[in-house]
Amino acid sequence: MSLLDTATGFLTNLSRPVEGAQNAAAYFASSVSGPVIQSICISCHVEGGAAGEGASALQYTPQGADGYQYSNFQVLRDYVAADPDNANKLLEKPRLAVPHGGGALLSADSNEYQALVQFLELLNADIDESNNVSLDGFWEGVTLATPEQTLRRAALIVAQRVPTDEELASVVSGSEEDLRATVRGLMDGDGFHRFLTTGANDRLFTDAFLANLFFEAADLNSTVFFPQGTIR
Ligand code: HEC
Repeated sequence: MSLLDTATGFLTNLSRPVEGAQNAAAYFASSVSGPVIQSICISCHVEGGAAGEGASALQYTPQGADGYQYSNFQVLRDYVAADPDNANKLLEKPRLAVPHGGGALLSADSNEYQALVQFLELLNADIDESNNVSLDGFWEGVTLATPEQTLRRAALIVAQRVPTDEELASVVSGSEEDLRATVRGLMDGDGFHRFLTTGANDRLFTDAFLANLFFEAADLNSTVFFPQGTIR
């Protein structure tokens, strides 16, 4: 085993310019090598395999061989660097979004696919939007409500009142712990009791329909039947 045979393949953590590559190598070792390359791809992408030398540009070293992880990391890094579209190929082939000798092996919502996307992003590879289903972009454009807004909503729902000035003052710090503690404090008293019983009634007491409550009155919150309709 060589000295370079560490998870990241580097001797020290000090050389800042290679930080991206270092992260990619570490991520490869922890999340791509085992579950993707060794479990799924290497049965063909290996010396003598259906996608071995001559058949494809991707040939991996089997698990257990000296430095196999770092050498497979290099195979992928070089492959991605060789052509700007190779990163996309790496995501499209195993999904069979383009023809692949190995057929369909990964679905876009699998952990293995997500790991490949993440790895390629760490390599700063160009990935088409349609191949990038990582959840990073999912919350794009969304802003979180302020703690004061969240507290006000929580108070109206669970305590059935607006928050007191004191309660509002206790969340201005913006810390999640303070918000959690203050919301927890709302879960007490008459308002909270009504919230629980009303919620349970809404879900559980449907017998009123057996006692000739009109079906049109299904929305019991907005009719004259509330709460009578629910407490039979
Ligand atoms: C059952 C065999 C088989 C398996 C398993 C397999 N492949 Fe392949 N793969 C092939 C063959 C054969 C080719 C060459 C023909 C082609 O390009 O489709 C290939 C080619 C490729 C290429 C194109 C390489 C080039 O030369 O540009 C990529 C990318 C690829 N595979 C990705 C994967 C990934 C990622 C996995 C694992 C998730 C995988 N393959 C698993 C058989 C396989």
